[in-house]
Amino acid sequence: MADPTRAHFQSRLGFILAAAGSAVGLGNLWKFPYITGMNGGGAFVLIYLLAILLVGLPIMLGEVLLGRMAATSVIGAFRRLTGAPTPWSIFGVLGVLAGVIILSYYSVVAGWSLHYLRLTLDGALAAGDPKALADAFAALYADGATNVLWHAVFMAVTALIVARGVQKGVERAAKVMMPVLLIILAAMLVYATTLDSFARAFDFVFGMHTAALTPAGVLEALGHAFFTLSLGMGAMLTYGSYLSRRDDLVAASIATAVLDTLVALMACLVLFPITFAAGMAPASGPGLVFINMPIAFAQLPGGPLWSALFFTLLFFAALTSAISLLEVVAAYLIDERRWSRPRAVALLALLIFVLGIPSALSGSDDATFGAQVHWLGERNWFDTFDYLASNWLLPLGGLGIAAFCAWRLGDRQRRSAFAEGSPLGAFTPFYLSWLLLLRYLVPIAILLVMAHALGLL
Ligand code: PFF
Repeated sequence: MADPTRAHFQSRLGFILAAAGSAVGLGNLWKFPYITGMNGGGAFVLIYLLAILLVGLPIMLGEVLLGRMAATSVIGAFRRLTGAPTPWSIFGVLGVLAGVIILSYYSVVAGWSLHYLRLTLDGALAAGDPKALADAFAALYADGATNVLWHAVFMAVTALIVARGVQKGVERAAKVMMPVLLIILAAMLVYATTLDSFARAFDFVFGMHTAALTPAGVLEALGHAFFTLSLGMGAMLTYGSYLSRRDDLVAASIATAVLDTLVALMACLVLFPITFAAGMAPASGPGLVFINMPIAFAQLPGGPLWSALFFTLLFFAALTSAISLLEVVAAYLIDERRWSRPRAVALLALLIFVLGIPSALSGSDDATFGAQVHWLGERNWFDTFDYLASNWLLPLGGLGIAAFCAWRLGDRQRRSAFAEGSPLGAFTPFYLSWLLLLRYLVPIAILLVMAHALGLL
């Protein structure tokens, strides 16, 4: 069944860095700090950590396992594992669809990091006037042409890397960018610890502050666990399919989840002290990174340098995630349709670029397409895509992957594949706890997220 000519990662470290590269992204550096801020800090963080441990990690293990067992991409994986065409493949189709949709708007936000990097280098952020910076962000959001341009640049860079293949493109990019990202973040953290506001920020993130936590916040924490770990659309499954059978998939998956969580917590411990030091509130929403940070940097010694480092960090994080999104979709055309990699990547990048144009135009106030389309209530195109992907496609895909792995796969086959190359995977109590979580807790948690999204909770 295994195809000896199939691409694979060079090493387990390569897999971990690529998988962590996929997981660590705008979700960690942009979204997690601001939703933590809006939900009042500590108690929300605790719920999020539980969601990662009890729901995210079991699905991650399941996805990587399915990928390595099937040794093919997400649509074909279900058929390969059942040995015949199967309705389960619908979850693979959903995954590919989710990849296309997420990348189309993710690339627009990623483009903002490039725009802010450029503003930093031009010295345009140096004055740090709060009103001017808020206006600059609003102006960028409304400026369709600039958004389309950066979206194009970001998609082109992503495509160039993915076109180079699994080892030379995906793995090498992660091996270069992930260590740089971790070093920049660590340097920023060291700097943040020197600020007087660090203790207050630490208490905000780790103290038991339950006052602002609502049931909606609990479900938001759970939903975010999917997005941040890149679960539910086959990204981890596809990367698992490039993992060699000799490698310890349990340890590698745990390392990936731990790295992702550490980066999210570090991001909070960097952003909040800086926000507090500048006398700003933590609950300022999506503008936290693009408005508050430049305001804060302007007040701090060495501000332009930190600002440049910060937006480089954001760009690298977004890029390694975008690479995984494109890889999922490209792998389908390469594995199932036998397309050459360059052809698959070129066509998809073009398609996703075009699909992202309405998102890039969503903020403009003239009568452009993206801003005028209101499918779901007040949501413009951009918000609609984000809503559909995070609240529906990823949880649904996660449910399918968990159910297939926990209920459909034969126990003997699953158990031996789990244990292959892994001492922890071969440890029966660990295996059984994982299976129990995947069978019961994970589906219940996902159904809760969906009920919440439907307004039933
Ligand atoms: N995990 C990425 C983030 O936190 O930004 C987003 C993402 C990447 C989601 C890849 C899903 C995915 F397949």
